[in-house]
Amino acid sequence: MDYTRLSDSNVITEKYMDSILIEERLIDSVVADTSIEFFGEKFASPVMTPAFSHLKNYEGREHNGLEEYSQAAKESNILNFCGMMENDQFKRIVDTGAKTVRIVKPYADHGKVLDQMQFAESVGAFGIGMDIDHIFGEKGLDVCVGEEMAVQTFDMLRSYVELTKLPFTVKGVLSVSDAVKCADLGAKAIIVSHHHGRMPYAVPPMMILPKIKEALKDRDIKIIVDCGIATGADVFKALALGADAAAVGRAMLPALEKGGATGVKDYLDKVAGELRYIMSFTGFGTVSDIDDSVLHFL
Ligand SMILES: Cc1cc2nc3c(=O)[nH]c(=O)nc-3n(C[C@H](O)[C@H](O)[C@H](O)COP(=O)(O)O)c2cc1C
Repeated sequence: MDYTRLSDSNVITEKYMDSILIEERLIDSVVADTSIEFFGEKFASPVMTPAFSHLKNYEGREHNGLEEYSQAAKESNILNFCGMMENDQFKRIVDTGAKTVRIVKPYADHGKVLDQMQFAESVGAFGIGMDIDHIFGEKGLDVCVGEEMAVQTFDMLRSYVELTKLPFTVKGVLSVSDAVKCADLGAKAIIVSHHHGRMPYAVPPMMILPKIKEALKDRDIKIIVDCGIATGADVFKALALGADAAAVGRAMLPALEKGGATGVKDYLDKVAGELRYIMSFTGFGTVSDIDDSVLHFL
């Protein structure tokens, strides 16, 4: 028996997503419009890039993978995210012209957190945030690429919100309790995520999403989902369950490695096209029309 596989949150998440089915509503349907407004800007679709870090220069190309997928986000006119990195790397990402949210790590070095957030704002980040789910390792607090992480309190997170004029995103929310705290501390978005399975047996983001949506229904805060999102059908299910947007993660890596910015753009445009196709099949003309009345659970 493979116990690792049994506890793998990625496998559990994939199984859950595959258990959600979609009905058709064709009479009076239209070719759907996937565009959205997010933090006051118009984007071509609710498909987003993931907060990745540490990608190499694939096949000896000039720009590393982070810069290449950011370029793709710009060309596809979708919101871009990036993760752990030093300031010079972040500047190169902003220089692609992509509207980018910088997700800063929960470093134990508080000065580094503040420096990276302030730098992001000074060079034109679209937003900033923090992945609060990368804190613990099996020996206590995690050390990631030589950097120690720290628990983030409500007051610390609120102080980051107050530090900047930019909208603040908390990444790694997987409970109603944390989601409500994020709204209370002034975050403008959360990413419902288990960070590709950091904790065993993590509840699938899409399973907890409706409860989070209900708890935040009267709050001014956007909900993004990631983990296991690979197709337009996955994005559609996320939107139907209450998300405003969904980020494609590791699923885009083969396209990135092989085709660089063009490969990622083609892949993400295909995901957005699949979303439009399913929206049209289900009678939802715009993204904000989508609801869970077309979903069925095996
Ligand atoms: C190579 C790689 C680097 C990542 N780096 C970060 C990071 O620095 N910060 C962060 O919040 N998430 C990071 N993530 C997690 C992703 O943002 C995302 O939550 C996760 O990959 C989603 O799951 P999926 O790959 O199954 O779609 C990383 C993931 C990968 C594969």
